[in-house]
Amino acid sequence: MRNGHTTSLLLFFFFFFFFFFLQLVFSELSPNQRTTMNQLYGLLLPNSQFSPPSPWNVTKDPNPCSWKGVTCTSNNSAITNLSLPFFSITSSDFLVSLCQIDTLEAVDLSNNHLSSIPDGFMTGCGKITGLKQLNISRSKLSGPLPTFNGFAKLESLDLSHNSLGGSIDLQLDGMVGLKSLNLGFNQFIGSVPINLGKSMVLEELGLSSNRFEGKFPEAIANYSHLTAIDLSLNGSIPGDLLSQSNLLSLDLSYNSLSGSIPANMSPTLVRLRLGNNQLNGTIPSSSFGSLQTLTYLELDNNSLSGPIPPELSSCKNLALLNLANNHLTGVLPVQLGVLSKLQELKLQFNNLFGEIPIQITQLQTLQKLNISWNSLYGSIPPSISSLQALTNLDLRCNNLSGSIPVSIGNLNFLIELQLGNNKLSGTIPLMPLTLQIALNLSSNLFEGPIPRTISKLIGLDVLDLSNNKFSGQIPDFLVEMTSLTQLVLSNNLLSGVIPKFLLFVTVDFYSVKGHCITDNSIHKSKLNLSNAMEAVSKPVNMMLKSEFCTYYKAVMPCGMSYCIKKLNWSCKAFQLLNPERFVQELMVLEYAYTMRVTPSGNVYSFGIVMLELLTGRPAISEGTELAKWVLTQTQLIHHNKWKEILDCRLLSDASRGVHDQMLSVLRIALGCIALSPDERPNAESLLDLLLDVTTI
Ligand SMILES: *[C@@H]1O[C@H](CO)[C@@H](O)[C@H](O)[C@H]1NC(C)=O
Ligand SMILES: *[C@@H]1O[C@H](CO)[C@@H](O)[C@H](O)[C@H]1NC(C)=O
Ligand SMILES: *[C@@H]1O[C@H](CO)[C@@H](O)[C@H](O)[C@H]1NC(C)=O
Ligand SMILES: *[C@@H]1O[C@H](CO)[C@@H](O)[C@H](O)[C@H]1NC(C)=O
Ligand SMILES: *[C@@H]1O[C@H](CO)[C@@H](O)[C@H](O)[C@H]1NC(C)=O
Ligand SMILES: *[C@@H]1O[C@H](CO)[C@@H](O)[C@H](O)[C@H]1NC(C)=O
Ligand SMILES: *[C@@H]1O[C@H](CO)[C@@H](O)[C@H](O)[C@H]1NC(C)=O
Ligand SMILES: *[C@@H]1O[C@H](CO)[C@@H](O)[C@H](O)[C@H]1NC(C)=O
Ligand SMILES: *[C@@H]1O[C@H](CO)[C@@H](O)[C@H](O)[C@H]1NC(C)=O
Ligand SMILES: *[C@@H]1O[C@H](CO)[C@@H](O)[C@H](O)[C@H]1NC(C)=O
Ligand SMILES: *[C@@H]1O[C@H](CO)[C@@H](O)[C@H](O)[C@H]1NC(C)=O
Ligand SMILES: *[C@@H]1O[C@H](CO)[C@@H](O)[C@H](O)[C@H]1NC(C)=O
Repeated sequence: MRNGHTTSLLLFFFFFFFFFFLQLVFSELSPNQRTTMNQLYGLLLPNSQFSPPSPWNVTKDPNPCSWKGVTCTSNNSAITNLSLPFFSITSSDFLVSLCQIDTLEAVDLSNNHLSSIPDGFMTGCGKITGLKQLNISRSKLSGPLPTFNGFAKLESLDLSHNSLGGSIDLQLDGMVGLKSLNLGFNQFIGSVPINLGKSMVLEELGLSSNRFEGKFPEAIANYSHLTAIDLSLNGSIPGDLLSQSNLLSLDLSYNSLSGSIPANMSPTLVRLRLGNNQLNGTIPSSSFGSLQTLTYLELDNNSLSGPIPPELSSCKNLALLNLANNHLTGVLPVQLGVLSKLQELKLQFNNLFGEIPIQITQLQTLQKLNISWNSLYGSIPPSISSLQALTNLDLRCNNLSGSIPVSIGNLNFLIELQLGNNKLSGTIPLMPLTLQIALNLSSNLFEGPIPRTISKLIGLDVLDLSNNKFSGQIPDFLVEMTSLTQLVLSNNLLSGVIPKFLLFVTVDFYSVKGHCITDNSIHKSKLNLSNAMEAVSKPVNMMLKSEFCTYYKAVMPCGMSYCIKKLNWSCKAFQLLNPERFVQELMVLEYAYTMRVTPSGNVYSFGIVMLELLTGRPAISEGTELAKWVLTQTQLIHHNKWKEILDCRLLSDASRGVHDQMLSVLRIALGCIALSPDERPNAESLLDLLLDVTTI
């Protein structure tokens, strides 16, 4: 009896304290929301696909406001955002329950396993007056598009990358505030929807990769705020789409639009992107006279013909003019020389002929000039040195002749010079010492010895002198070019022995005339292991950290900087092997990785290192084989099967989160090995990209 009394007293205290404890922790979140969150927690658990720990743990942390993906108001009185991507949510009840939280502003349910949107969700969440963003992309939804009633404040709706089907009629028309709609990558059929909110405030519309049929609807032009349309569709651009009053920006790039560019354009246009379509006809000259604010004009990769209209010179604010990959003919209009704000001029892959007009060399702000793959002739004007802001100059694959003007050395910001496949001759002048990405003089008519001045280019990555008539001994001074990674000397009249580069230079050299050569192609310096170990022991040397490894900078006795990669033993994938055995294996073989730290940041090599790590395959001949293999695979295999490219040894042990990180790193690595150096991320953005991945 006494004992029983004590027990109930203890129970009372226990409950009191437990209750008190709950009260204390949840003092501000309303009981309703607390109950709902516990309900959601219960619905999440049984389906959890997570290798433990699960994202939410009520025992460990009873306050829902501090759970992963949950955002509350600053005083913790109400839940405002639920961001639950990759939560392995499968239950429709979960969707219905969460709508009880009537203070929600943003809900992200992307990357889950939901098969449909239940009616309870549509009615429940439709009533939430403050809901602005809803994202259920990539979540395996199928069936028809539900009707959105209510959702009065919804501004952004993303249902892309699901398997939704059927036609779209009035399901979305009830929303009054919708500004951004993405229905891309589904299986919708019928005609392109035109009822997308009666209030006509839509700004962005994504409809690409569906099975819509028919013509581009004229009525789309009624959405006067629309600035970006992505619909992979066909048909021509409606005549009045570009002329709506107050139109600032329109992006119709990467669709399958055909026909010609409408001549009437709104004088308020700042940015017009029509690239990567099938537009034909001429560039309408009359429209540009009045486009005083036009700053970005992109018409690239179409089938446009006729001349470049001189009237473009009226667009005084143009900063980017991209007309590349068309069938444009005629000469480079001298009038373009007045575009004093132009920063990029891209005219490559056209049929332009004639000489490079001196007026073009007066563009004081021009940074990138690409006129490659045309039929320009005559010589490079000495006034080219007036382009004082120029960083990349590409004149390859034309018919240019004469010698390179000596004044070219004055281009103090030039980092890339592409002059291959022309008819240039004479002596090579002193090149700008700023050159980094490449100096390519291949397939021209240069002759005589390789000039000594070339060795001053100590920041240069790639030097291609192939297919000329350079003669004499291969000079030793080439080894002074300490950033060089690729040297191409083939098809010249050179002889002798390739000098010993300190490290990592791929030398491509063979001779048509059968001169004596010794091709010792690839040089790797022997890494001083004790120096490397010492560098790795000091956190101050740390450069980058990812899920799998940390990169350290190490300076070798010879003065060269290396990037040393250390695998993170804590990563589950590597725990199978003990550290000692791993080192032994390294010595026997994964080669210990070394990477030159060049001034330009050898992003390509870094990409290769990442690929080796992700695929578990060795990089044969400095990565070219591996890069080729990965590029082919990623083109052949649909991106949701890219996992197959990854090292199965890593996959078998890693959690789903780690898989996704690996895929993200794979995407970054693909960027690093992009064929064109300027498509590769620079060292700083690379760091940001990697940090993004590792903090997900
Ligand atoms: C919650 O965390 C506790 C430790 O705080 C742990 O014992 C329990 O297994 C976790 N529960 C789940 C479902 O992960
Ligand atoms: C908490 O802050 C919100 C505004 O964010 C306010 O409306 C509400 O009254 C506050 N609640 C409490 C309990 O202080
Ligand atoms: C929550 O959602 C609002 C409204 O969409 C958004 O402005 C805010 O940035 C989001 N906050 C967080 C922490 O995600
Ligand atoms: C929706 O989520 C996906 C995947 O997380 C993301 O890529 C996309 O940008 C989001 N959509 C919007 C409109 O924010
Ligand atoms: C939309 O445009 C079409 C023709 O382009 C027109 O007939 C129709 O009245 C417009 N609708 C609205 C609501 O303005
Ligand atoms: C548009 O595509 C449909 C098939 O989806 C085709 O029948 C039609 O000929 C195409 N129209 C044009 C102008 O290419
Ligand atoms: C040009 O567009 C076509 C599709 O119309 C695409 O396959 C190709 O890759 C594009 N080329 C460039 C250089 O973007
Ligand atoms: C443009 O292409 C269409 C077919 O898409 C063709 O009928 C028309 O003749 C072409 N126009 C010009 C100027 O090439
Ligand atoms: C270069 O000029 C020659 C004639 O001098 C011509 O046959 C050839 O097609 C031209 N090449 C290019 C790329 O324009
Ligand atoms: C010029 O355009 C060609 C073809 O698109 C491209 O491969 C090259 O990298 C461009 N050159 C520069 C310097 O951007
Ligand atoms: C140099 O330019 C030519 C085109 O003129 C190109 O074929 C070659 O691949 C380039 N060399 C290097 C090393 O990129
Ligand atoms: C490595 O460098 C240290 C000095 O930094 C030197 O004492 C040692 O002999 C070197 N080892 C080899 C194998 O070169």
